[in-house]
Amino acid sequence: MVSQVAFSSPVAHFKLPSTVPLSCNLTGKNFARSFRLTYPKPPCAVSDILVSSGEEEGKVRIAETPPSPNFTNVSLLEPSSTDDIIEAESHLFVQTYARFPVVFVKGHGCKLYDVEGKEYLDMSAGIAVNALGHGNENWVKAVSEQASVLAHVSNLYHSEPQVKLAKRLVESCFADRVFFCNSGTEANEAAVKFARKYQRVKAKKGSELHDPATEFIAFTNSFHGRTMGALALTSKEKYRAPFEPVMAGVQFIEFGNLEAAQSVIQQGKTAAVFVEPVQGEGGIFRAMDSFLKGLRESCDEAGTLLVFDEVQCGLGRTGQLWAHEAYDVQPDMMTIAKPLAGGLPIGAVLVKEEVASTIEFGDHGSTFAGGPVVCHAALAVLDHIQKPGFLDRVAKNGQLLQSLLRAKLGSNPHVKAIRGIGLIVGIELDVSATPLVKSALKKGLLILTAGAGNIVRLVPPLIISEQEIRSGVDILCECISSLD
Ligand SMILES: Cc1ncc(COP(=O)(O)O)c(C=O)c1O
Repeated sequence: MVSQVAFSSPVAHFKLPSTVPLSCNLTGKNFARSFRLTYPKPPCAVSDILVSSGEEEGKVRIAETPPSPNFTNVSLLEPSSTDDIIEAESHLFVQTYARFPVVFVKGHGCKLYDVEGKEYLDMSAGIAVNALGHGNENWVKAVSEQASVLAHVSNLYHSEPQVKLAKRLVESCFADRVFFCNSGTEANEAAVKFARKYQRVKAKKGSELHDPATEFIAFTNSFHGRTMGALALTSKEKYRAPFEPVMAGVQFIEFGNLEAAQSVIQQGKTAAVFVEPVQGEGGIFRAMDSFLKGLRESCDEAGTLLVFDEVQCGLGRTGQLWAHEAYDVQPDMMTIAKPLAGGLPIGAVLVKEEVASTIEFGDHGSTFAGGPVVCHAALAVLDHIQKPGFLDRVAKNGQLLQSLLRAKLGSNPHVKAIRGIGLIVGIELDVSATPLVKSALKKGLLILTAGAGNIVRLVPPLIISEQEIRSGVDILCECISSLD
């Protein structure tokens, strides 16, 4: 009897080379890529597996009924080396990512370990995601406990963790209601739809019938995501051009130029203005107080919605729970994502009642959004971030990071500026930052770029210690000569 098993591991989708033998023994010795089959465990009654190439790629057939019917334990484990994985990635994946040649297998706190056991200090946090670092005990407990009880039910039904999370979020800010989704781009996509719907309902209600406002304003150096609506709001031409036409009706204004923004925000035309209080991907630029206040006033006058994108800068990164708290300006909607579930995919739009009340059943939705596991994980993240003193430490460590960078790198001729707030810090260079990033990686430090590639972006886990900040800056100093 032949049973067919599709493996759960990503490695299962490995494209079998034409040279792979059609039959190999259970220890996997004959596997061309030296994967190990962990179940059924040898020695056992099953002596052969058949590996088919061509149409049945990635599937393994077991030639006899295994001793236990429990197929869920079957997995392929631990490809033997970095090279194996990188080679597999190169022909298995749609090549959307220029990845660094490193394969991570585990993490703890601010440290990551690659497949060869080398340790890295993580000052990238999975692009500003791992707020609690890696393997935080309470987060792991929250995820595993919830996963063992209830993982998914869809939004056709109610579940408790999402209600608890929504309550925590609305209690923490201006918003009255929440819409959950699965990523930053989806949060912005939802905010675009909510803005259009709000304007449509408002136009219908008005005493004079007029067309609803449907257009949007975004800013230079903005990044709002990669789906067609969020992409349309993203300033970098390079991201948009290959996919034109993206959503029509977006005008880009120079970030910080209030006068220019005011001159284009128009009643009956501008549905919403999207702005990051602190731009991340664009190069770590903080909005001026007067800029956000002025936008708020103009939006109010024109009946335009003001949307803050705090996907990267929100949830404690600036040393305050929300980046906009530093400005005393409130938006009508705020989009959040990255760190919310501490490494699991989640996004959310926080919405004022006036906007939320225009949204009806069926207007928007998502199969996965707000699932019990991610919401329970997010509650663990909020528990940690909202502990007394935690955000003060983020602010203090951010100051330490900037002052060490200024003291140790400030006089380097390639360094044009060091800026940021809390633990979102940029080092602007007069050259590409890539050699520095590569050199740091070799020395065991993970950092990011931003802007036009000439800015080093540091967004470490919010739990980073003083000692780790000092080590990170020391490594940067050792590597800075790579720019010469
Ligand atoms: C400010 C901002 N908005 C939106 C996004 C898109 O988020 P995601 O990659 O989760 O779709 C990002 C991602 O970097 C971001 O920094």
